[in-house]
Amino acid sequence: AIERTLSIIKPDAVAKNVIGQIYTRFEGAGLKIIAAQMMQLSREQAEGFYAVHRERPFFKDLVDFMISGPVIVQALEGENAVLKHRDLMGATDPKKAEKGTIRADFADSIDANAVHGSDAVEAAKVEIAYFFPALKA
Ligand code: CMP
Repeated sequence: AIERTLSIIKPDAVAKNVIGQIYTRFEGAGLKIIAAQMMQLSREQAEGFYAVHRERPFFKDLVDFMISGPVIVQALEGENAVLKHRDLMGATDPKKAEKGTIRADFADSIDANAVHGSDAVEAAKVEIAYFFPALKA
C-alpha cells in the first residue's frame, strides 16, 4: 500500500554535509519527499516529538542532541514507505546496522545516529501531523 512516513535528518548528519546523499537514497528507493523543512528544534518541540520516550534513561541526552543543531524534517510517500525507510536507515545502534544502510555509513553512535524514522503507520500519522499540520491526506 502507498504509505507515508516521517523522516528526520539529525544534527550529526546535517553537520557532516550528507543531506543530499541521504535524499538520494530516499529517491533511489522510490520514496517521494512530499514535505520538507530545515529547522532548529526548540527543547519543547523535541520533548513533544519524543514524548513516548519521556521516562527512558536516554531521554535527556536524546533531546539535548536533537537541539544541538539544525535538522531536516521530511514526510516521505511511497509503496510500503514505513518499512522501506526503516530498511534504508538500518538498526538504531549503528554498530548493529547492516552494511550499506544510512546509519552504518553515516552514524557515529546510538545518540548521533544520523536519522529518525517512524516505526509504524499509526506513529507516522502522529509524527507527520506534529511537523506538517497543513499536509492533507
Ligand atoms: P530515534 O529513531 O530518533 O528514536 C529515539 C532515539 O533515542 C533513537 O533514535 C536513538 O538515537 C536514541 N537512543 C539512545 N539510546 C537508545 C536506546 N537504548 N534505545 C533506543 N533509542 C535510543
